[in-house]
Amino acid sequence: MNDVTAITTSAIDTWQEQSADASLQAVIERGGVVACPSLAFAVSDEEGTLFDASLAGDQRKSIYIRPGRYGITGTTATGATRDVVATMIERYAAASHALIDGLFPDYHARAHATGTSFRPRAIGDVPSGKALSWRKDDTRLHVDAFPSNPTRGDRILRVFCNVHPTTMPRGWRVGESFAAMAKRFLPRTRSLPPGGAWLMHKVHITKRPRSAYDHLMLQLHDLAKGDQQYQRTCPQTAIDFMPGTTWICFSDQVMHAAMSGQYLFEQTYRLPLSRIADVDASPLRTLERLTGRALV
Ligand code: SIN
Ligand code: FE
Repeated sequence: MNDVTAITTSAIDTWQEQSADASLQAVIERGGVVACPSLAFAVSDEEGTLFDASLAGDQRKSIYIRPGRYGITGTTATGATRDVVATMIERYAAASHALIDGLFPDYHARAHATGTSFRPRAIGDVPSGKALSWRKDDTRLHVDAFPSNPTRGDRILRVFCNVHPTTMPRGWRVGESFAAMAKRFLPRTRSLPPGGAWLMHKVHITKRPRSAYDHLMLQLHDLAKGDQQYQRTCPQTAIDFMPGTTWICFSDQVMHAAMSGQYLFEQTYRLPLSRIADVDASPLRTLERLTGRALV
């Protein structure tokens, strides 16, 4: 099992004033996960009293903010409570930007932030008891690819922090390397029908036209999640991220599944390849090598 995603532990214990770290950058750009068990996100007593699964709205798993948009989405909270939750999420965004700006200044994190979320529900606590479709089931190993949000080869960087108030770990599984997963499933993918990407953009199914890359990434996401045998038997390892742990990875590249836990913060960045040092290791270049064609 030597092709399983590596977890590299870092002793980082503060969000501010980190210096640039090319070796950690190489770890994440090549598909590893950097875990910082001593990097807790401090929640105030007032914020802590609000921690409850019901903070998330019906059918919602995340409460989130988007840069450039006013306020928070996905919560039942109103009035002063809503403001406290919003301020807490904004504070997590600022902490995450400071961390990434320090460690990886070339990423220009702040300029590429796309959203910040707080996930107060326990994994497996399905909103409103509605059966979750297998496509949305993040307890199955997958790489992140979103139907309405094509990246056209840009990278998806995420900073997670387990803020469970007592002892509950965020239990993840991580899988094999992106290249190994892609080699396995590429033979089952189909190409984008002519005109399909243009039409989906035109009728606002997608925020921008899907590229051949996005079309492949969505299929890899679905093929892996849909293959129960693969889920059970592929190279994988379980890891518990304890409360007070922060971890960083490119989730478009790391095969991951969230198995257990409650109360998580997550910050997402969308980074163009011009900001990445090891472009050859990116999912786009990997898929281009494996398919022998240009995909954007
Ligand atoms: C995911 O990105 O698939 C879920 C991560 C989590 O909620 O721990
Ligand atoms: Fe995911």
